[in-house]
Amino acid sequence: MTAAYRVPDAFLWGAATSGHQVEGDNRHSDWWAWEESGRLPYRSGKACRHLELYPQDFALARSLGHNAHRLGIEWARIEPEPGRVDEAALDHYVAVLASARADGLEPVVTLHHFVAPAWFTERGGWQQSDAPELFAAHVGRVARAFAGKVRWWITFNEPTVWAKHAYVTGDWPPCVRGQWGQSLKGLRGMMRAHRLAHAAIHAVRADAMVGFTHSAPNVVPSNPASPLDRVAARLRDYGLNDFLFRLLGASPRRWLDFLGVNYYCRQVVRWAPRGRAVLLGEDDLRPRPGETRRFSDIGWEIWAPGFTAVLRKLSRLGVPLLVTENGIATDDEALRAEYLVTHLHAMGEAMRGGVDVRGYLYWSLLDNYEWTEGFAPHFGLCAVDYATQERRPRPIASLFAETCRSGMLPA
Ligand code: IFM
Repeated sequence: MTAAYRVPDAFLWGAATSGHQVEGDNRHSDWWAWEESGRLPYRSGKACRHLELYPQDFALARSLGHNAHRLGIEWARIEPEPGRVDEAALDHYVAVLASARADGLEPVVTLHHFVAPAWFTERGGWQQSDAPELFAAHVGRVARAFAGKVRWWITFNEPTVWAKHAYVTGDWPPCVRGQWGQSLKGLRGMMRAHRLAHAAIHAVRADAMVGFTHSAPNVVPSNPASPLDRVAARLRDYGLNDFLFRLLGASPRRWLDFLGVNYYCRQVVRWAPRGRAVLLGEDDLRPRPGETRRFSDIGWEIWAPGFTAVLRKLSRLGVPLLVTENGIATDDEALRAEYLVTHLHAMGEAMRGGVDVRGYLYWSLLDNYEWTEGFAPHFGLCAVDYATQERRPRPIASLFAETCRSGMLPA
């Protein structure tokens, strides 16, 4: 076993959240409309009431040793109708940022976390030719309103995940199924919007760090000795972990001051020469002889060495990395603690080898609304009693606090 690794002093330590998942009452958004349509089993409702309870949530994060916090700004609140800016909503977020800073938390702001204003999606969403300009106009407004208060900006959360759910599986707004072409068009639009937003934010703040987050599974062949499994894994890895950066432009570094890395799991892939799996292979969930495989409550495979591999791979882009999500949905507290310790160690292994990681934000501070899964998956450092809105830190919260305070990644 290798020795403990100490992170640099300026390292960001904290937890991540997203607007729609914790705030509650995101009434002008496409997700709210989708929930209200009755076609979803779960509604976000008041969620964690973070919209009002943010001061106590930030105080809680501070008490847990955090020095940073990832939070979402809901476009639908700020621009509830095309071109109409709700100044009170902007003021609200200015107060939120001031409150985070007062608690010693460096804000890391997400501008689009799967959710858009309902009007934007009704008009065609990311299929509209002027979608990037509409988004960039919003970002410019927000950047000016927050001038000086925010250095770390995330334009989009997990574009590839969003594109799959929005246009292929069709379970997220705009709920279109099987349309790979629209999925690609949406991604292209988002990447153009990212470039415009990058410029808009830098026009306001030259030293801003602007990136997006990428959901990065560790994709490996089921049988490494099988050339066909290796091809399937390589193709899937290209689709999930490389292709997006091609869409960003000839030089991704020009448009990324950092990349946000969301790592949760490994995907074991085998060749499957039938149906849709013909190109990208099929998930192989059968253990190979001598293998013990463990999964979270939502079926994601726990595999800490994959975190090191993914950080090494993405570091080849040549930009600093910020871990913007990592965590586990489970009710087994021993497993949650083991997940945290092994993944912090895995990050240390990558850093020891020279990978430039600027921070680690655990997903999530609170249990929250997990999209189509509702409130059942429990990712939080703190459990939430949704009837009383009481937050109860889990044992892992103090374990993590020790790491945040010492800066020592476990051996
Ligand atoms: O809750 C989500 C988050 O919104 C995006 N990344 C993955 C998390 C867990 O599924």
